[in-house]
Amino acid sequence: MTKTGQTRDVYQQVAERLAGAERVCALTGAGISRESGVPTFREADGLWNRFRPEELANVDAFLSNPDRVWEWYSWRRKLIGNVRPNPGHSALAELERLLPHFALVTQNVDNLHRQAGTRDVIELHGNILRNKCQKCGIVFEPGTPEAEMDFEPGTLPVCTCGKEGLLRPDVVWFGEMLPERALARAWDEAQSCDVFLSVGTSAVVFPAAGLPYQAKSAGAVLVEINPNRTELTPVADHVISEPSGEALPEVIDRLRALKTTT
Ligand code: APR
Repeated sequence: MTKTGQTRDVYQQVAERLAGAERVCALTGAGISRESGVPTFREADGLWNRFRPEELANVDAFLSNPDRVWEWYSWRRKLIGNVRPNPGHSALAELERLLPHFALVTQNVDNLHRQAGTRDVIELHGNILRNKCQKCGIVFEPGTPEAEMDFEPGTLPVCTCGKEGLLRPDVVWFGEMLPERALARAWDEAQSCDVFLSVGTSAVVFPAAGLPYQAKSAGAVLVEINPNRTELTPVADHVISEPSGEALPEVIDRLRALKTTT
């Protein structure tokens, strides 16, 4: 029995579903990075209980007080720069290698899935390690001088486009559209998968939160991995109420065993 008293057979059931699946899609949220030391948003010690999103994560806030917004993202960048992927991220990277077709969709901007080795990450809310120009929209990938530009009090990073555009982190703010191609890919994967894993998300921020429901209504088996109940829990076919850094490696161990015996 796991410490939550949950019988371990739910791991076996989920592993068997994955072993029999042609196509699997996973949606991750801030919870998968919790065990790396990255705060979530809506838990008691979450970011939105310490900061006000309307002051930090929207365009109006940025245009009216860019220094304040840059200061906050600079703090988050430094925090993310000091953390590493945890066994939950690594387990999903291995799942991509073990399965015939696996799509990882994330709401996280912390780049930890890439660092863990997942090759194809569908980033719905952007990536904090990229910068983009608020005026011309050009995106600067990590490693470019413009992406490395960070906030210094009083000197805001400006784009080289000549339109005096301010650089900002390439993350989706409240009220902004999600990247079209990423969202279209995520819907397609949710629509066509046999198993959908919802990992570490409160499943309350749409359109990302619509993906598990879309998958379920299209006939997928819905699995939730989250130590706490969410809006999704009642509709999930399997619920593993454990931290993903413990649950996912356990599922992968079972799946590997199944694959060696079949
Ligand atoms: N393993 C798995 N899940 C966990 C863990 C863990 N170790 N620790 C916490 N969780 C769960 C919490 O129970 C919660 O349900 O992670 C979830 C985090 O929920 P939120 O803080 O709401 O984060 P998320 O769902 O990613 O938010 C979605 O909202 O503010 C926006 O853009 C932001 O991408 C974010 C979006």
